[in-house]
Amino acid sequence: MDIKGKTALVTGASAGIGRATVKMLAASGAAHIVLVDIDEAGLKSLAAEVEQQGAKATWLRADLSKPDEVISIFERADSATGGLDFVHNNAGIMTGQPDFPDTVMSKMIAVIQINLIAMMVGTRIAIEQMRKRGKPGVIINTSSVAAFSTMPADPAYSASKHGILAFTRSCLPLAEKFNIRVMAICPGITDTAIVPYDAPWLKPALERVKVLSPDDIARVVADIIRDDSLAGDQVTIQNAPAAAA
Ligand SMILES: NC(=O)c1ccc[n+]([C@@H]2O[C@H](COP(=O)([O-])OP(=O)(O)OC[C@H]3O[C@@H](n4cnc5c(N)ncnc54)[C@H](O)[C@@H]3O)[C@@H](O)[C@H]2O)c1
Repeated sequence: MDIKGKTALVTGASAGIGRATVKMLAASGAAHIVLVDIDEAGLKSLAAEVEQQGAKATWLRADLSKPDEVISIFERADSATGGLDFVHNNAGIMTGQPDFPDTVMSKMIAVIQINLIAMMVGTRIAIEQMRKRGKPGVIINTSSVAAFSTMPADPAYSASKHGILAFTRSCLPLAEKFNIRVMAICPGITDTAIVPYDAPWLKPALERVKVLSPDDIARVVADIIRDDSLAGDQVTIQNAPAAAA
C-alpha cells in the first residue's frame, strides 16, 4: 500500500522506534498521523516536527496499561482521521531491576499489559474500525528477537514478545477475508532508552554486535506497508556483527 495521503496511528510515538516511524511516515507523504504515548512533552515536540514535514498530527496522551484508554484513543483517532489506514502497535517496556525472580510484581504485570494486552486490544479495535469503513489496512506489531529465545533476567518481556508473534501469525486469514494485513517486526538491539546498557546479562551481546538505529527499524516498517504480499508473518531485523577491532 502506498503511504502517500494515508492516515496512521503509532503508539510509543514519543521516543525511539515509534518516533522514527512517525517521521518516516510524514516524510513518505502520510496525510494525518495520530501520535500516542504516555510522555506528553515528547508527543508535543513530535507533533510540531510532523506538522513542519507537511502532515497533520493529532497527539493523544494515554496510559496503554489500561485497556479502556487503548479503546478510547482508537475511537478518537477514528473520528479525527476519518478512518485509519495503518496502525503501529509499538509501545513497550522492560521489567527492569531487580532481575527475575526478584522482579517487582507490578512491573511484571505492566509489561504484559502494555506490550501484549494493549497490542491485542489495539489490533482488535483497528480491525473492527477498518471493516466498518470497508477499508483495507496494515497493522504492524513490534515484537523483538526476544521472541526467538529465552530471557532468564526478564521472562515477562520474553513472554510478551513471544505472545505478540503468536497473536500476529494467527491474524493471517484476515488478509484474504478483509484485506487487512497484520505483521510483526522483530528488531535486534536498537539504540533507544529501553536498552539496559548497564545490565551484566546484556554486556556479552553488546560486545558481539553492532547496535541498530531507530531509523533502521522505521525503514522496515515502510517496506512492510508497501509490500502487499506480507501478512501474518514477521520481519526480523538482525544486528550485524561488531566490526573487528
Ligand atoms: N530498543 C531495542 O533494542 C528493541 C528491540 C526489540 C524490540 N523493541 C521494542 O520496540 C518498542 C519501542 O521501544 P523503543 O526501543 O523505541 O524504546 P523507547 O523506550 O525509546 O520507547 C518506548 C515508548 O513507549 C512509551 N510508553 C511506555 N509505557 C507506556 C504506557 N504505559 N503508555 C503509553 N506509552 C508508553 C514510552 O514513553 C516511549 O516513548 C517496544 O515494544 C520494545 O519492546 C526494542
